[in-house]
Amino acid sequence: MIVNLDQAVTMLRAHDVVAIPTETVYGLAGSIHSEQALRKIFEVKKRPYFDPLIVHVENSFEARKYVTEWPPIAEALTQHFWPGPLTVVLRKSPEVSDLITAGLERVGIRCPRHPVALEVLKKLKSPLAAPSANLFGRTSPTQSSHVEKEFSGLVPVLEGGSSEVGIESTVVLIDDVELAILRPGSILKADLESILLKNEIPFKWKVNVAKTEAPGHMKHHYMPSKPLFWIEGHIGPDLINRLRLELSQLPVEVEGVQIIKPSSINNYDLLKLPASPREAARVLYAELRRLGESPTDSIVFSPEAFMTESEWNPILERLRKASSIIIKI
Ligand code: TXA
Ligand code: MG
Repeated sequence: MIVNLDQAVTMLRAHDVVAIPTETVYGLAGSIHSEQALRKIFEVKKRPYFDPLIVHVENSFEARKYVTEWPPIAEALTQHFWPGPLTVVLRKSPEVSDLITAGLERVGIRCPRHPVALEVLKKLKSPLAAPSANLFGRTSPTQSSHVEKEFSGLVPVLEGGSSEVGIESTVVLIDDVELAILRPGSILKADLESILLKNEIPFKWKVNVAKTEAPGHMKHHYMPSKPLFWIEGHIGPDLINRLRLELSQLPVEVEGVQIIKPSSINNYDLLKLPASPREAARVLYAELRRLGESPTDSIVFSPEAFMTESEWNPILERLRKASSIIIKI
């Protein structure tokens, strides 16, 4: 169900959830001040409570209300990259619900740059918790029609066109003078470094990030509606037999994420991506969804030689997790 801005704000005020466009992917949003809405986010997505939500704010002034620290690294990075696809993870203030942080001491915050998202935040006058608007473990949505299909039209969606970045924000944990990338995104390590150096902010890359500090890292994620196979090596005529065999040996579920196993594999579509990583990120999820709906039984992706530049990292990371299995031939 497509709703307009005023309807969306009214629903959010009434403790409901609404899917909103952002420049990265569409988010399933609920007011951070409504426990009912926060619970509904987890229920609708079938998301486990151990996976924390990102808080979306209108600006960095708002962000500071929800943390107990704002170290120079956070100031420099948000000054430069906000509004935009960067999430900073900092010590939370007491008013941030444990539901949002999965009981952790830190909260992930970002200021999106999509004008519709910013408009909702401004009108609502409350930050929004918003995970990607897809079922747990599945492909993230970059168009309103993706959200409509994912939840059979049951979730209200605010139209915002195709997400221009196409993959989720870079998540950065900041611990005093140390930082670590918890999830790669379109803002790369070198981009963060260059801003910190330019502003003469002392920093060190944190080497050991505890597993508890970086939750939400399931082996599988972003999975399309049919098996995706990551193939390294030459694709020959015997590939189908290999795919059948490998799929038959997989479990039906890994860490709560269902692996889709059709009764037989007879054919596949080849996932092709544009040569520009920026363009590839933009179309990645729409392509996975499109091929998921084609009449074939499976999808095959084979990384190409030009995909070695660092800009490809966040895209390949998602494809690795979206794959049922990585096969070396
Ligand atoms: O681009 C994005 O970030 C999108 C749009 C909607 O803003 N949101 C998004 O949310 O990707 P979600 O829920 O699909 O991914 C959130 C991930 C978590 O799985 C976890 O890896 C990390 O962000 N995260 C969030 N809060 C955290 C925290 N307090 N500590 C560590 N990691 C956190
Ligand atoms: Mg997600």
